[in-house]
Parts: sequence; C-alpha cells; structure tokens
Amino acid sequence: MRNLTLSSSTILVALLLACSDDANSERARSAALVERGRYLVENVAACSNCHTPRDDMGALIPELALSGVDCFIPGANGECLNVSNLTNHETGLLRRTDDEIKRMIRDGVRPGPGGDEPLFSEMPSFVFHNTTDADLNAEIAYLRTVPGVDHAVAASGPSFVLAAAVNPLDLSALPVPSSGAADPAAVLRGRYLAAQAGQCVGCHTKHLDGNPNFLDYSGFFLGGQTFPLPLPTVPISTNLTPDVETGLGSWSLEEIVVAIKHGTDKRGDGICPPMPFGPQEGYAGMADEDALDIAQYLASLPPVVHAIDDQCRFPPVPAGEPALGAL
Ligand code: HEC
Ligand code: HEC
Repeated sequence: MRNLTLSSSTILVALLLACSDDANSERARSAALVERGRYLVENVAACSNCHTPRDDMGALIPELALSGVDCFIPGANGECLNVSNLTNHETGLLRRTDDEIKRMIRDGVRPGPGGDEPLFSEMPSFVFHNTTDADLNAEIAYLRTVPGVDHAVAASGPSFVLAAAVNPLDLSALPVPSSGAADPAAVLRGRYLAAQAGQCVGCHTKHLDGNPNFLDYSGFFLGGQTFPLPLPTVPISTNLTPDVETGLGSWSLEEIVVAIKHGTDKRGDGICPPMPFGPQEGYAGMADEDALDIAQYLASLPPVVHAIDDQCRFPPVPAGEPALGAL
C-alpha cells in the first residue's frame, strides 16, 4: 500500500513537471509568434506608416501606435480617407475575431452587419493576400498585444469607397528573376519580403485608380507613382529594376540595403518620405539579412529603362538651393 502511494505520488510529481514543461514551451512558442508578428507588422509591412498618427513634424507618436489616422488623405469637398484603429480597444479590433482580422488584412474586406465592405485600395490587402498563413497568424498575435487606444475612426468619404475589393496581386505576373541569379533561395526570400509580406511593390509600381488590379501590371517596380506630401517637391517612387542609367543597376547590394534601412541614396542624399526608413520608421529595424535578400531580388529582375525625374531631397532643400550631395 505504502509503495503504491509512493509511486502514485511520484507519478503525480512527474506529471506536474511534464505539464509545467509543456506550459513553458507553450509560452516560449507564443512569445516567438508575437515577436515574429511584431517584426512583420513594424519592420517589414510597416503598418505604422499608415495606421499610426503623426505629430506636426511628421514623426510617429509611439503612445498612439496603430490607433488610426483621421484624414490620412483629404479628398474633394472636405471628405477624407480615414485609417482604421488596430489597437485592443472597443474602437479598434478588440471585438473582432482572429478570422475577421485575417479577412480584413488578407482579402481586403471588412465584415459588417450588412455583409462584407471592401476596404479602400490604400490598404494593401492585395499585397498581403500573399503573406503566408503562419505569418498572418503571427501578425494577429502581435496586434492582440498592442495597448488599446480610445479612438473612434469615422467612415471615409464616398470617393474612398470601392464597389469591390481590389484583386489579389497575381504573383505569376511579377517579372521572373533572370536564370543566372547568384543565390536563387535568397532571391525567393527577397521576393516574399518585397511583394508578399512587405510593400515595396505597392509603392514602386504605378497605381491605376479604378482598375481592378490597382497596380500597373505592365510596370512592376518601375516607379513613377507620386505621393502628394507637404514638401517643396512631390516625391515620386523610383525605378528599382537593375537598369544602369535609370534604375539600381550601378548600385551595390550594400548601397541598396543602406537606402532601405536608412533612407540615404547612393549619392548620400536623403530619400523622401513616405518610404518608412530609419532612424524613426519601420525599415530601420529590418534585419540586415532580410534587406540583403530584398536587394538580391531587385538585382535579379530584368532591367527596364524607365527614367524617373526624382527631385525630392530629405531633409527638404529650399527651392533654388542645390541638394547636399550635389555640392
Ligand atoms: C499604405 C497604407 C496602409 C498600410 C501600409 C496598411 N494599411 Fe491597413 N488600412 C489602411 C487604410 C486606409 C484602411 C481603411 C480602409 C477603409 O476603411 O476603406 C486600412 C484598414 C485596415 C484594417 C481594417 C480594420 C477595420 O476595422 O476597419 C485592418 C485590419 C488593417 N488595415 C490592418 C493592417 C495591417 C495589419 C497592416 C500591416 C500588415 C496594414 N493594415 C498596413 C491603410 C494601410
Ligand atoms: C510608402 C511608399 C514606399 C515604400 C513602402 C517603399 N518605397 Fe522606396 N521609395 C519611395 C519613394 C517615393 C522614393 C523616392 C523618394 C524621393 O523622391 O526621394 C523611394 C526611393 C527608394 C530608393 C532610392 C532609389 C533612388 O534611385 O534614389 C530605393 C533603393 C528604394 N526606394 C527601395 C525600396 C524598397 C526595397 C522597398 C521595400 C523594402 C521600398 N523602397 C518601399 C516610396 C516607397
């Protein structure tokens, strides 16, 4: 009897130990998931670039991270495009299920009482549609940890309402890397970061308002999209294909990494917003290996001649004065 008691308590202790081991590894797994999600949301997809409000100088306000932006883009007659609150508050995503959040990010529709409402094309769901399910789960796990901010965002004006969600980006339409790519695995990883989990493709391809694909499929990564911002010169996205004269053909991979992470171009001039480079914005925290994979992907694209007259310098250069790098 005694023996039996002893052995059953031994078993009990063993079971308890096993359970706490399980609990520890479960905690480690969910911490890793949240960290992966934080990295993707903040440093690869740069959701904050649109979803976090800014101060008068244009700097992100960390206490209000991801809490939505009123009048992100002003439209005609005083109407506005407003950006949703993603924080854990009644006015954000608190009451949404994981599935609902996934459908908004991935399919560009907001489930509503009267059915699905398409999200406006500024929200790059058509890109994020090709984020892996595991990475979407990680992003949602991270969003669940973002402190709630009370900010009810009004519905956007009528010119920012679409009849249907934008078509998901057709990956087979992206230019195929040249067969001689130095490191095919790196190129594929780079493509994932530049055009599936991240947003390079959405800014460096011309937008076609009203077209169901939204992006100009005849000119991926050729640049030419303007971004009206309160700067002396309107920023226009550049040609990222490796054409020597009009693209990145004369840039080293390291120079491309510096441009992505720190916003300094090959000549040493500052790149203009809205690209979310460091020191304050998301790409500052992108892992060097990931930025290098993106650079390898861009270098592997077929070179296309497409000259962009990019006059914008950051910090802004007053009209009439030469940019720093041009002195
Ligand atoms: C280029 C700007 C931009 C980026 C980058 C962006 N969003 Fe959005 N997002 C928007 C806009 C604008 C809306 C509102 C669209 C509308 O209401 O029609 C929106 C809406 C949403 C919604 C709908 C929420 C609701 O309840 O209305 C979710 C969820 C969302 N975004 C998540 C994300 C996540 C996660 C990321 C990063 C992985 C991200 N967004 C990146 C602009 C952006
Ligand atoms: C929100 C829009 C946006 C996003 C996202 C974005 N860019 Fe840009 N990028 C721009 C604009 C606009 C410019 C030109 C700014 C200027 O006029 O100085 C630019 C400039 C650049 C330049 C400098 C090129 C040159 O010829 O001077 C490089 C390199 C670059 N981007 C690479 C990338 C990569 C790689 C990604 C993804 C990791 C990316 N960009 C994401 C908007 C964006």
